[in-house]
Amino acid sequence: MSQPYILILYYSRHGATRTMAEQIAAGVESVAGIEARLRTVPNLSYETEAVADEIPESGDLYCSSDDLRYCSGLMLGSPTRFGTMASPLKYFLESTSTLWMNGALIDKPAGVFTSTSSLHGGQEATLLSMMLPLLHQGMVLTGVPYSETELLNTESGGTPYGASHLAGKDSQRPVDKSELQICYAQGQRIATLATTLLKGQAQ
Ligand SMILES: Cc1cc2nc3c(=O)[nH]c(=O)nc-3n(C[C@H](O)[C@H](O)[C@H](O)COP(=O)(O)O)c2cc1C
Repeated sequence: MSQPYILILYYSRHGATRTMAEQIAAGVESVAGIEARLRTVPNLSYETEAVADEIPESGDLYCSSDDLRYCSGLMLGSPTRFGTMASPLKYFLESTSTLWMNGALIDKPAGVFTSTSSLHGGQEATLLSMMLPLLHQGMVLTGVPYSETELLNTESGGTPYGASHLAGKDSQRPVDKSELQICYAQGQRIATLATTLLKGQAQ
């Protein structure tokens, strides 16, 4: 049997959400007995007949149904698009009805993260709305507790609903130290919760 993993499924156009995903992966990998699996989804085409190559030219692989089915936890990341998640990620989630019908994701921990260009441009709205399909799947939502003190210190992104990043009006602002720390803490927390749940199931 393969090593348990936290699936970190994200979409990123300009790279900020991907940087957050990589830091969450570092947090996951800091926990013994579980690994991080980074996966993305293709952009959507206005040409609805167009089909993306199975393997992207660069970066992480596209997520398969089995990547999601066999994960021990899920971190879902998206840039904010008009106050909610980006369509390519929503489109992928809408292809997961078979998993929903089989209850494949029930009782697995899940968390969400996002990047916005403006400080009040919808980070919390995006994070909360990203949780809705995961609740339909029966997942157990987790956030970031205030024991992570950067939540109180941050002057940019970072919320108890999930990690977030302020990209600035030109979307060029790097993910800063507080934002990176909160990503790491969220990855570490979901990995710890998932391994605890797995141990309980083994007993
Ligand atoms: C169609 C569209 C809608 C967007 N809507 C918002 C928004 O509602 N609020 C906001 O602050 N930023 C918004 N943005 C900016 C992105 O959230 C921001 O550039 C983000 O950092 C991109 O993340 P990425 O580097 O992972 O692609 C929008 C961008 C696009 C292209």
